[in-house]
Amino acid sequence: MAERIFITGGTGYLGTALLRQLELRAAHVGASYLHQPPTAFPNVAWVRMDLREPEEVRAILHAFQPTAIIHTAFVQYEPDLLAITGYGSGLIAEIAASLGARLIHMSSDVIFDGERTGPYTENDAPNPISAYGEAKALAERLVQAAYPAATLVRTSLIYGFAPIDRQTRFALEIAAGQRSDRLFSDEYRCPIFVDDLAAALIELLNTEHTGVLNIAGAERVSRYELGCLLAQALGYNPDQIQAGRSAELPVRRPRNCSLDISRAQALLHTRLRGVREVLAEPLRISHTDTNKK
Ligand SMILES: NC(=O)c1ccc[n+]([C@@H]2O[C@H](COP(=O)([O-])OP(=O)(O)OC[C@H]3O[C@@H](n4cnc5c(N)ncnc54)[C@H](OP(=O)(O)O)[C@@H]3O)[C@@H](O)[C@H]2O)c1
Repeated sequence: MAERIFITGGTGYLGTALLRQLELRAAHVGASYLHQPPTAFPNVAWVRMDLREPEEVRAILHAFQPTAIIHTAFVQYEPDLLAITGYGSGLIAEIAASLGARLIHMSSDVIFDGERTGPYTENDAPNPISAYGEAKALAERLVQAAYPAATLVRTSLIYGFAPIDRQTRFALEIAAGQRSDRLFSDEYRCPIFVDDLAAALIELLNTEHTGVLNIAGAERVSRYELGCLLAQALGYNPDQIQAGRSAELPVRRPRNCSLDISRAQALLHTRLRGVREVLAEPLRISHTDTNKK
């Protein structure tokens, strides 16, 4: 059967990168949006879909008949955090199971408390300490219960330059003196370049891997280090960026969410490059979404 791939959250940062790469394949591609009317990818079958409306979601996916779904849609904050990010993911898994469609569910490294010194492996159990982490951990449980054959991809900070992502934009605004926030030197992640992540997910569709898989960048960096590296690479002055300490905040945040990616590296041809390796190469940058210096 011809591939029919559905991307939930096609207007999102990762969703857009996936559609950009899927455009080059001979596949029928469908994608959902909610608030942002889609302006790109005319060959994609776009549909407005709200994860809080189960009957609507069922009808949309049964009509499209996907052979594979990559579920990226989510919200990070209230209102409706659990309904959308948690139960909405369970719903997608239940529908994917009923259709027999391959499902890749996007999870996050913030399902961990971050108290570990080394990297987390696929065998580590979630222990979230934020509302968002709780919602993503609930999503994992519901997806696994509804569809044991699903693949759950735990990833880290997603960055890119065309357009520039939210986190990079934040660092650039600090470097440009437009905001006075500090970046934490004691919070560690394994940021992944959005095009590497999209390529890895598309490659993963054609594997038989089920269960949890860590897909993140190969290099562990602090948020401060990451901000400085990105600012420098994009022509801003990293000396403007001040370091802060997450440990000194009244609210507890996960400090070390680095992920062991050896399983994905063995499984996939796509290289999961670390941030310094990505930045060493010529960058395709679009400043349309960011305030220039
Ligand atoms: N970004 C990161 O650094 C990061 C790190 C770790 C894990 N992840 C995971 O990666 C995935 C993608 O993240 P992202 O940053 O690409 O997301 P994003 O840019 O914030 O996009 C979120 C998408 O979800 C859609 N959406 C929001 N509410 C919805 C609802 N009620 N029903 C249906 N769709 C809804 C949005 O549609 P509209 O915009 O059209 O309203 C948008 O397309 C998420 O699952 C996230 O947890 C991201």
